[in-house]
Amino acid sequence: MSEYPPKTLGILGGGQLGRMSAMAAAKLGMRVHIFCPEENSPASMVSEKTYVAKYNDKEALKEFAQSVDTITYEFENIPVETVQFLQKFKPVWPDDKLLEIAQHRVKEKQFLNDIGIKTARWSFANSPQDVLNILKEWNVSSVILKTCRFGYDGKGQAKYNAKDNIDIVWNSLKSEEIIIEEIIDFACEISVIVARDKIGQTACYPPVLNEHKNHILHKTTAPAPIPENMIMEAKKITEILADAVDLVGVLALELFVTKDGKILANEIAPRTHNSGHWTMDACICNQFEQHVRTVTGMTIGYPTRHSNAQMINLIGNDVKKLEKYHEMQNASVHLYGKQEIKENRKMGHVNIINPDKNLVK
Ligand SMILES: Nc1ncnc2c1ncn2[C@@H]1O[C@H](COP(=O)(O)OP(=O)(O)O)[C@@H](O)[C@H]1O
Ligand SMILES: [Mg+2]
Repeated sequence: MSEYPPKTLGILGGGQLGRMSAMAAAKLGMRVHIFCPEENSPASMVSEKTYVAKYNDKEALKEFAQSVDTITYEFENIPVETVQFLQKFKPVWPDDKLLEIAQHRVKEKQFLNDIGIKTARWSFANSPQDVLNILKEWNVSSVILKTCRFGYDGKGQAKYNAKDNIDIVWNSLKSEEIIIEEIIDFACEISVIVARDKIGQTACYPPVLNEHKNHILHKTTAPAPIPENMIMEAKKITEILADAVDLVGVLALELFVTKDGKILANEIAPRTHNSGHWTMDACICNQFEQHVRTVTGMTIGYPTRHSNAQMINLIGNDVKKLEKYHEMQNASVHLYGKQEIKENRKMGHVNIINPDKNLVK
């Protein structure tokens, strides 16, 4: 199913995920309008039009909605009310149900458990005493505390050890809604990206191995070097989730592989994901194209992987050291156009294709 002329896609959010989605939309002949609060965002640099306004500016939202055929979002902290308001005018995919789950760690873990997907043991806390009670109940000496909302790249979380002062740790999180999690001594971290279209067809990329530095994704290896049965299980879990939320679009599921071979779900991203950037150079249809295709009502693309890949994030000053990648025959550099370099800021990434093979010139 594909219409001609192609549609105009509206994207809420102006970051690099929006930028790469806009570029995928352009490949399919579409126009893109961005809505975000910042001027000169990475996504607006490659799009036809940008509405610069706050997410609660109803006049601007209405104007934006009227200028596009379909709307999506590129990050999960768009207010649910914004999406619900826009739904009065144009379809928004993925819908508000998935967004609401992914915005709140307790709703997320509860939803995963309700559909039979295992996670680390968790509990809700709204006071320091709740944390102390859980330590006793679980008979453990340390746990991880995370704010229920707005956490990313390890922000909004802290390890609590029974020897620490609970009030200091609690206050450092600056939130009254906390999830307490058992600390998983994992063997590795993996993630799976799935796309699903309006008629329920799914396309799943293989699980990938993720390595972090300072809580920020540093390197992704695709596919993850894990046994075939785990690959199947990780994909199955992600597809169960996509069906359960009736996904239209792309989502990523972050998972832990425990030392005794179990797979536990950690976090849902209701969007394209940093661990899927390798698909841009190693698959026929990459995660961004899948996102655009599914939210605009096109049929899903083949996720065919023609190469193995390693993705390395360019964080902060890494972006000044590109020579070594430009000299490699199998490295493909992607930059996001961010004007200012900041510590821990994602400036771009490099995909190294078939890192284990000798290349033909
Ligand atoms: N329960 C846990 N046990 C062990 N490590 C954890 C746990 N939860 C999170 N982590 C570590 O912290 C990282 C960030 O946590 P995550 O829940 O994914 O939040 P975010 O990515 O939004 O910052 C994970 O990738 C993992 O390395
Ligand atoms: Mg995470």
